[in-house]
Amino acid sequence: MEDKLKEIQQKAIDNVKKVVDLDQLERLRVQFLGKKGKVTKVLRGMGDLSPEKRPVVGKLANQVKGKIGQLLSQKERELKEASKKKQLKEESIDVTLPGNNFDLAKKHPLTLIFDEIKEIFLGLGFQIAEGPEVEKDYYNFEALNFPENHPARDMQDTFYIKGDTLLRTHTSSVQIRAMEKIEPPIRIIAPGRVFRSDEIDATHTPVFHQVEGLMIDKEISFANLKSILIKVVKELFGEGRKVRFRPSYFPFTEPSAEVDVSCANCNGEGCSVCSGTGWLEILGAGLVHPNVLKMAEIDPEEYSGFAFGIGVERIAMLKYGIDDIRLLYDNDLRFLEQF
Ligand code: DAH
Repeated sequence: MEDKLKEIQQKAIDNVKKVVDLDQLERLRVQFLGKKGKVTKVLRGMGDLSPEKRPVVGKLANQVKGKIGQLLSQKERELKEASKKKQLKEESIDVTLPGNNFDLAKKHPLTLIFDEIKEIFLGLGFQIAEGPEVEKDYYNFEALNFPENHPARDMQDTFYIKGDTLLRTHTSSVQIRAMEKIEPPIRIIAPGRVFRSDEIDATHTPVFHQVEGLMIDKEISFANLKSILIKVVKELFGEGRKVRFRPSYFPFTEPSAEVDVSCANCNGEGCSVCSGTGWLEILGAGLVHPNVLKMAEIDPEEYSGFAFGIGVERIAMLKYGIDDIRLLYDNDLRFLEQF
């Protein structure tokens, strides 16, 4: 019987060594120490032993039982420890690994120019005004001193919708709407989309953007217009750029001017970018024509004002060196990512 017990102990030692998980270990516990287990079976046979032998075997049996119990507990601790380590290892996060890269959205170059222009004028006390893109002939032409059948209407190839409704060809229409709404003094800019039935090429698209400006007050002169526009151009393009006012014609301003900025490419020397002139046109401007003030029921004897219209695409192209206007509308990421 003693041999049998020793054999059981050895067997338990061998078996416990091979155990790889807690389920197997539990099965071993039942197998060796359970109610119907190997050790219990031996103990049950003790009744057949002689009285002298009984305590000896009983003691050994208890030792074996204790030893196996110890083995099992020790193995259980080891297995639990190992599984915890494994879990920690599997679930650990390497904070030094590079993160997932995702592209941050960027502002479109036209939005950047709009933002810049708005910021400059808001700083000068101007407010932002809006008008509809689908406009009446009255606001787009008539009230701006384009008489019916006047050839000046041909300067702009208009998309007509129906009757006297059209897509505005310039943001100048917002001048009239602002004068109808606001009592002078007026200081507004009107950023927005405009439409002309132009053929698409490197410098024309049927939809483009302008920022209109209007300032009406007592004793506004051409000097005010010049000082504000020079300031704005220098803020947009940098102090080093020269500004020039060239006489021009618009029905709604008198006198009228076009404003050029010195070519950054050749520094005013003349190159292919500026067609050899050294200058690049960026906006139209002038003093508001008395007829326009009258149409808006503002007394030209009491008030005067200036207006201007900035081509946003033109500014973006000059500022960022973009040589084809279509790039602004292609939504090619390789282009857009540069801003
Ligand atoms: N509306 C003109 C155009 O689209 C630009 C312009 C010129 C606007 C002179 C003005 C201005 O306000 O005074 O060609």
